[in-house]
Amino acid sequence: MSEHTMRAVTVGEFGGPEVLTVEQVARPAPLPTEVLVRVHAAGVNPVDWKTRAGQGMAGLQTLPLILGWDVSGVVEEVGFGVTTLAPGDEVYAMPWFPRPAGGYAEYVTAPSRQFARKPSSVGHAEAAALPLAALTAWQALVDTAHVQAGQRVLVHAGAGGVGHLAVQIARHLGAEVVATARESRHAWLKELGADETIDYSRQRFEDVAGEVDVVIDLMGGQEATDVRSVAVTRPGGLVVSVPGGVSAELADAAARAGVRTSPVLVEPDGAALTTIAGLVDAGALRVEIERVFPLDRAAEAHRQGETNRTRGKLVLNVSE
Ligand SMILES: NC(=O)c1ccc[n+]([C@@H]2O[C@H](COP(=O)([O-])OP(=O)(O)OC[C@H]3O[C@@H](n4cnc5c(N)ncnc54)[C@H](OP(=O)(O)O)[C@@H]3O)[C@@H](O)[C@H]2O)c1
Repeated sequence: MSEHTMRAVTVGEFGGPEVLTVEQVARPAPLPTEVLVRVHAAGVNPVDWKTRAGQGMAGLQTLPLILGWDVSGVVEEVGFGVTTLAPGDEVYAMPWFPRPAGGYAEYVTAPSRQFARKPSSVGHAEAAALPLAALTAWQALVDTAHVQAGQRVLVHAGAGGVGHLAVQIARHLGAEVVATARESRHAWLKELGADETIDYSRQRFEDVAGEVDVVIDLMGGQEATDVRSVAVTRPGGLVVSVPGGVSAELADAAARAGVRTSPVLVEPDGAALTTIAGLVDAGALRVEIERVFPLDRAAEAHRQGETNRTRGKLVLNVSE
């Protein structure tokens, strides 16, 4: 391979997992304030397969596109003006989102301050599994809901990539945590810090959740968990609707009940990633990886993700 090219998984046209193809493409170069990072692992997220299919962030992309926002790797080169990172530093990030970041590739460039030093206690696969999901959980619980110790927080889809991190972050903030998941996930979620678990396939959460202060809804209107959550939220409490924003139906139901609502769209945040790395290294946050795929099997990773049954995260190994 020439030093001017790299391997990347590209999307030439939107469609099914089969549109993901491995190609040699031009290697990016860092502008002033940017770093060039040799990617060791890339995280896979639902927005990747939604965008590949022409939904998600597809409207903000141009084809051909290199998918992927989550990366962990090693700084190869720094652009002019970068003083906080140097070649050889191990870093992780969710750069550029929602603009294309090109994470499913051997190299990425992005503004240096969108990166943070990767948690030193985990490998690149774990670090790559963290940024988008952990930043989403952090920005929903901390920046949007301002969760306080003693509050009761309900997390829908607690076993997923965002959910299992949200359970742990809410617990770390001192909240009482209730999570919905199939029963086979319950023991694991309790180990991670859930106080109560609800098997959504057997029980209506409204019947057993009690009253909560904050709902982190990761279902996005599926099974109307967002609108149904209003019934369990105390007046003045907050429903954060993560995947699809706040629908008119949710806004109406919430207004009638005196409940607040908010959308959230994850943003790059190197400083929050430094805090998150600290939690990981302190043993307060653990990322679960269901499976690591080689880069050239990204299509298989998408097929697995699209089953909507993944426990924790899926990751691509880029360095081998
Ligand atoms: N707005 C944003 O910035 C933002 C950021 C990140 C993610 N998102 C969106 O948020 C959603 C969740 O993301 P993710 O990465 O956590 O997804 P994910 O990891 O793919 O979620 C899979 C999990 O969903 C659970 N699940 C499926 N059906 C369920 C149900 N009816 N009730 C409860 N849990 C159920 C499954 O658990 P069981 O095996 O227990 O069924 C599985 O573990 C996606 O739609 C994603 O696009 C939005």
